[in-house]
Amino acid sequence: MPKAKISALGCYVPPRLLTNFDLEKMVDTSNEWILERTGIVERHIAAPDVATSDMAVEAARVALAQRGIEASDLDALLVCTVTPDMYFPSTACLVQHRLGAKKIWGFDLIAACSSFLYGMGVGAHLVMAGTHKKVLVIGADTMSRIIDYTDRSTCILFGDGAGAMLIEPSEDDNYGLIDFLYEIDGSGGDALKMPAGGSRMPPSHETVDRKLHYVHQDGQAVFKYAVRKMYEACRELLARNNVTGKDLGCLICHQANRRIIQATADRLGMPPEKVIINIDRYGNTTSATLPLATRDALTQGRLKKGDLVVYAAVGAGFTAGASLWRWAY
Ligand code: ACO
Repeated sequence: MPKAKISALGCYVPPRLLTNFDLEKMVDTSNEWILERTGIVERHIAAPDVATSDMAVEAARVALAQRGIEASDLDALLVCTVTPDMYFPSTACLVQHRLGAKKIWGFDLIAACSSFLYGMGVGAHLVMAGTHKKVLVIGADTMSRIIDYTDRSTCILFGDGAGAMLIEPSEDDNYGLIDFLYEIDGSGGDALKMPAGGSRMPPSHETVDRKLHYVHQDGQAVFKYAVRKMYEACRELLARNNVTGKDLGCLICHQANRRIIQATADRLGMPPEKVIINIDRYGNTTSATLPLATRDALTQGRLKKGDLVVYAAVGAGFTAGASLWRWAY
């Protein structure tokens, strides 16, 4: 079975910034509270005419250019998102058409904040099966479209953005995906959800009046699960591969709250320089956090060829997991 490696990365964030000071004028909050409780300073917000597929296309183009290939060289395209342009056609179809990719297939993957982690795994397995040579995994979310900007408990958390990773066979068995551990637990479904708009509660005047088309979250329940599960997934994955936190070059976690990442890193015995945190500049971009954090790790010289890297995420569902890679470029 061929190994699957990440061979290129592209990211996009919309230019408009929403700072904590802007939010102070919108809801009853403060820069100090947001910074202390979440680590967020600012987030990027898409212009009204920009949708998830637009940001996905931008990120995809950067990744393709970095690798020096055309969209028509791709075999498959996955778009990880909880904010598709519309239910159907899938955002993958919209992106495929815009990129001009021919004779490929693809689909959208929904696993909330774990979407990109799961997408990386699915993409890698398409490659490892020997049936695909180039799979583009995109994580893109326009969270600002499903956030109630009068609800201070959620509106401070999220931002918009996109990232894309190209996954290819690795000529060298030492590089690429080593192992993964994913787990879903639907018993936590009520803790974080967008209640209306689906078949259970179709959109109506009433659902809009009751703001049920926005994100609803029991922050503490999600926080407790995330702190426990992110560590447990990493610990189990590392243990079964005889790797310790000290052996890792980099820990790249979903960026939902600085305290969740810090708690995971501390318990794994990871020194701060190996833990990638950029929630201060982007907030929680849901499916885009892992590629955005990878870009920072690379540009800051904190992720290098040959490094062991753990990706970890927890999200609505609940969804959770971690994957272990040896970085290939
Ligand atoms: N500004 C000021 N005060 C606030 C704000 C705010 N923005 N938001 C809440 N508060 C208040 C509350 O009303 C509460 O006041 P009270 O004590 O008078 O009732 C107090 O602050 C404490 O509220 P908590 O909810 O207990 O605050 P907590 O420390 O738990 O932080 C937070 C809230 C940041 C949301 C945290 O719980 C968290 O990060 N949870 C996890 C979020 C997450 O990981 N989501 C998953 C990913 S999203 C996805 O999958 C799509």
